[in-house]
Amino acid sequence: MNHEDSALVEFLPWDSSFFQKRIARIIPNRLTPSTIERIFEWVASHQIDCLYFLADPESKETTALAEQTGFHLTDIRVTLERHISGETEIPAMVRPAVESDLPTLKWIARQSHHDSRFYYDNHFATEQCDKLFEIWIENSYNGFANQTLVADLNGIPTGYITCQVEEKEGKIGLLAVHPDHQGKALGSALVNVSLGWFASQGVKEVSVVTQGRNIRAQRLYQRCGFITQSIQIWYHWWNTPKRQET
Ligand SMILES: CC(C)(COP(=O)(O)OP(=O)(O)OC[C@H]1O[C@@H](n2cnc3c(N)ncnc32)[C@H](O)[C@@H]1OP(=O)(O)O)[C@@H](O)C(=O)NCCC(=O)NCCS
Repeated sequence: MNHEDSALVEFLPWDSSFFQKRIARIIPNRLTPSTIERIFEWVASHQIDCLYFLADPESKETTALAEQTGFHLTDIRVTLERHISGETEIPAMVRPAVESDLPTLKWIARQSHHDSRFYYDNHFATEQCDKLFEIWIENSYNGFANQTLVADLNGIPTGYITCQVEEKEGKIGLLAVHPDHQGKALGSALVNVSLGWFASQGVKEVSVVTQGRNIRAQRLYQRCGFITQSIQIWYHWWNTPKRQET
């Protein structure tokens, strides 16, 4: 790869190994006729099966080029943010996760993230996508996140939120509530408690990413004081026909 191309596209070893496909991502958020040509030369020479591209929708040229070259829209990525100024009261029902919560958290993760771009891609098997989120919550608990909080109903974990601090900015990672316990304010409690935890870490800005199709999550974050920071478009390109739905 020459130096210029390394700033355009990168191979993704983890995704490739997990999905057993050669997966790469486009690094910039905007395309030009010249960059897209170089990207596809690189894709051909590296035998890439799938290319992720997070597009800036403000660039008409970018979305037109993505669509002309066969990219498929899989998600609208919504980032929301909130300023926090002090400690938030912590309801008793939310506590840090412990090892024995993991089997239940993994079960919840398998059911909960069906709005994500992987499920809407149609090339990835549903079972694989479920597994991806199961691994994601497990890795988060095991150190990928700085804190994993759970909503606890009579000793049983019924939801989770994962929190990371990167360069003094807080990021909410995964959030989900058990399908049987949604609509009881557990999601709001998890978000509010996470804000208290972020404040205790000296964090002043917290952001969270969700899907454009996930209105329920957006309403929850809005109720908790978050406002939209950015909108981006997730495209996926494949060099193979899509998986047949059964
Ligand atoms: C998004 C999610 C976490 C929300 O969790 P939740 O516990 O249902 O959230 P809440 O109970 O706080 O709020 C949900 C709704 O119930 C309502 N509600 C809350 N407490 C209530 C109560 N006691 N009685 C009746 N309604 C209530 C809220 O007003 C809200 O209504 P709205 O969506 O019309 O505004 C949950 O739906 C979920 O796990 N979804 C799948 C995973 C997901 O999308 N995660 C976010 C990815 S970024």
